[in-house]
Amino acid sequence: MAEAPLMEKIVSLCKRRGFVYPASEIYGGLNGFWDYGPLGVLLKNNIRDSWWRDMVECPPIGPDGHPIDMVGVDTAIIQNPKTWVASGHAATFTDPMVDDRETKQRFRADHLFGLFISPIADEEIKDVLQAGASTLIAFPYRTVIASSVGEAIDEFKKPKVSKPWQLGDIKQGSTDPSAYGGRATNHKGDERAFFIRHIKLSELKQDASRIPSPFTGNTGTLTEPRAFNLMFETYVGAVRDEESKVWLRPETAQGIFLDYKNIIDTTRVKVPFGVAQIGKSYRNEVTPRNFIFRSREFEQMEMEFFCHPDESAKWYEFWKVERMRWWKSLGVKAENLRLRDHEQDELSHYSKMTVDIEYKYPFTSPDFGELEGIAHRGCYDLTQHQQHSGQRLDYFDQELQLKLKEQGASAEEIKEKSRYIPNVIEPASGLTRAVLVLLCEGYAEDPTRPSPVYMKFDPKMAPIKAGIFPLVNKEGMPEIAEKLYMDLRTKFMCEYDPKQSIGKRYARMNEIGTPYCITIDGETLKDQTVTIRERDTLKQDRVAIEKVKTYLSERLS
Ligand code: GAP
Repeated sequence: MAEAPLMEKIVSLCKRRGFVYPASEIYGGLNGFWDYGPLGVLLKNNIRDSWWRDMVECPPIGPDGHPIDMVGVDTAIIQNPKTWVASGHAATFTDPMVDDRETKQRFRADHLFGLFISPIADEEIKDVLQAGASTLIAFPYRTVIASSVGEAIDEFKKPKVSKPWQLGDIKQGSTDPSAYGGRATNHKGDERAFFIRHIKLSELKQDASRIPSPFTGNTGTLTEPRAFNLMFETYVGAVRDEESKVWLRPETAQGIFLDYKNIIDTTRVKVPFGVAQIGKSYRNEVTPRNFIFRSREFEQMEMEFFCHPDESAKWYEFWKVERMRWWKSLGVKAENLRLRDHEQDELSHYSKMTVDIEYKYPFTSPDFGELEGIAHRGCYDLTQHQQHSGQRLDYFDQELQLKLKEQGASAEEIKEKSRYIPNVIEPASGLTRAVLVLLCEGYAEDPTRPSPVYMKFDPKMAPIKAGIFPLVNKEGMPEIAEKLYMDLRTKFMCEYDPKQSIGKRYARMNEIGTPYCITIDGETLKDQTVTIRERDTLKQDRVAIEKVKTYLSERLS
């Protein structure tokens, strides 16, 4: 039997072991909604707590050698609807959407990839890829919905998608690195050149009728792309009319901008400073996909950093470096992360420039997909809210005023320069997407181990830090194990497990990523020591019972 793709194995382990379940599964689920099970919520909370600690409680040291000024908030999910008009979301927070008139299904127009097959035999079209095949083959033979070329390649490799063609080895195009191609054969032995590439929005606008539906392969059934607003609507109070219509927030950021004035007035922060928030956001995604990667309800970890406009470039660079460092501190390998600057035409409506921190997900590989965006929002949001609310949101910079006075600036210059609307640098990441990254990063297989599948979480991030087992359920071992568990649970998330064979207990702990298993055995009865088995190396240490807490503390701090 063919081996299941990596992503399927991860999803299946998540369900089997209680990391992530489809939401409302007993009613058939609801597309784009997920529940975090007993282990998933622990993993998610560990990431959340780590972000909060490193952002709010112990923020990074700034370029001047002092800790950065940072406070946290927790703002309402539903705000006055004027918020979203001012922020631009009501008008422009849209995705281009295409409908298939035949199946009544819809998809995100910028998530379409095409398989292009040369109409002429292979001998006549030698080196078609190098010769610029895209001009020769204008319309795709088949299309699929995918958010990266890696995912599209996987889809097209399925015989039912590319039939009657069988795709041979797929290589990156030498002239067009965004296209991948090779040779295709059919059952008659005909050979053709093929390539796979993203279908541009402009192509869909121009030739919707000649592009095959990703659902049926038929042409002439797709509509032209049109804008679809991603915000969920609901109503406040008993009356359902335009007046009572509100939106669920699509980003946590706006709550921070709305509280900016309150924070300045009630705390001691001074520009430059940051305001951080973690919470749920909602987007009515056209095509939620790839497990918890793109869902309709998700959690974000966002920080708005308010700074002087002249210093914004410096802080943009600072947060780029800082945020990459942070992801690596969670145990994400450097080779699976990269920074990618946004092209001008992909910038959000509020952004002057944005760089994404991307991760190599199993479904994007060999490509990368977004994990976090670091945006330079300029003074867009505060200016908009100032205009729409009529409240002054500029900042009076007392320190700058004094500095200008000392430098002998004129009264007029001092007045003009010491009041300004700060610029904002925003590192914005998905907490639920971070869970996916740690699940993908942790998943490991080694057929030579007694338990061949294990989750190699960084010990600090592991949902359960230690499993405590009596080797057998007699001879006083359960009593000692329980006593040790009662002591360790006050400091670490532990599990006491007296059931099944020791091999099965180890295997389960390995599969859920528990870094240490502590066994009370015959030796314990003689010399008060226990065996501590390390998940990744399978190395066993003999440790005195009274030293176990210190042993774990040293390795988990
Ligand atoms: N305030 C800026 C903002 O919201 P974004 O790039 O749209 O920017 C930030 O979102 C992060 O939120 C993304 O990098 C991603 O990690 C996460 N995110 C966005 N949409 C998501 C979705 N539908 N499902 C899961 N995570 C999502």
